Amino acid sequence: APLEETSLPLYFGWFLLSPVQVKIGCTAMDFLKTLDTLEAFKKHIADFTGEAEKEVDLEQYFQAKRSLHCTTKFCNYGKADGAAEYAKNPVVIKSYGSVSELSLTALFVTPRTVGARVSLSEQQLQLWPADAEKEPEAAVPGSAALPAGSRAHVTLGCAEGVQPVQTGLDLLQILTLPQGEVVEEMELGSLRYYGEGRWMLSLREPICAAACFSSFYG
Ligand code: A2P
Repeated sequence: APLEETSLPLYFGWFLLSPVQVKIGCTAMDFLKTLDTLEAFKKHIADFTGEAEKEVDLEQYFQAKRSLHCTTKFCNYGKADGAAEYAKNPVVIKSYGSVSELSLTALFVTPRTVGARVSLSEQQLQLWPADAEKEPEAAVPGSAALPAGSRAHVTLGCAEGVQPVQTGLDLLQILTLPQGEVVEEMELGSLRYYGEGRWMLSLREPICAAACFSSFYG
């Protein structure tokens, strides 16, 4: 194929610097380790196992991701809608290679994925595509009404056979649901249950993660 056809990346995003990758990996593992021992979690274990009474080891259940990042624009080498326009955006060009602090404000778990929610700054939102939350009504009902940046996340792990694109969809789905009751006050923050195996822990102290805005070609 001609060179220009392959010059767009698989995706643009913020890539966490290595020390913070280790820190977040450990925090996520600690969370999973504690979550599957909670009575509240065990009560809904069938969401994960298909049957009550069966146990699950969440650390084994999810395959941990390496190279942690927060995708801004999935370009699919130019095949995704708006990929070329995004790459040409002056803010994207100007920010390329710059390091900023991502604020990780929550951890969430579903039977498919585990991820960290990212709360973007005004400046970071300038790199956020306008249509990122606009999933088809059939895929995530109500997602288009969520504020820009709602989908921002870091995929930490996926269940066997699940593609990482699912993490953003799981987060959007949780955010469209009414906020559940706090079921447990954990050391890291407040844990809420959203039904169908969906859990979200709002961090008492957001995790500050230095990250470089760049792209991945694969
Ligand atoms: P995420 O950003 O949730 O981690 P893959 O390996 O499947 O090609 O994906 C590469 C990266 O691009 C992953 O980080 C993934 O999910 C993200 N991604 C894949 N497909 C999409 C999509 N359709 N929309 C948004 N992000 C996507």
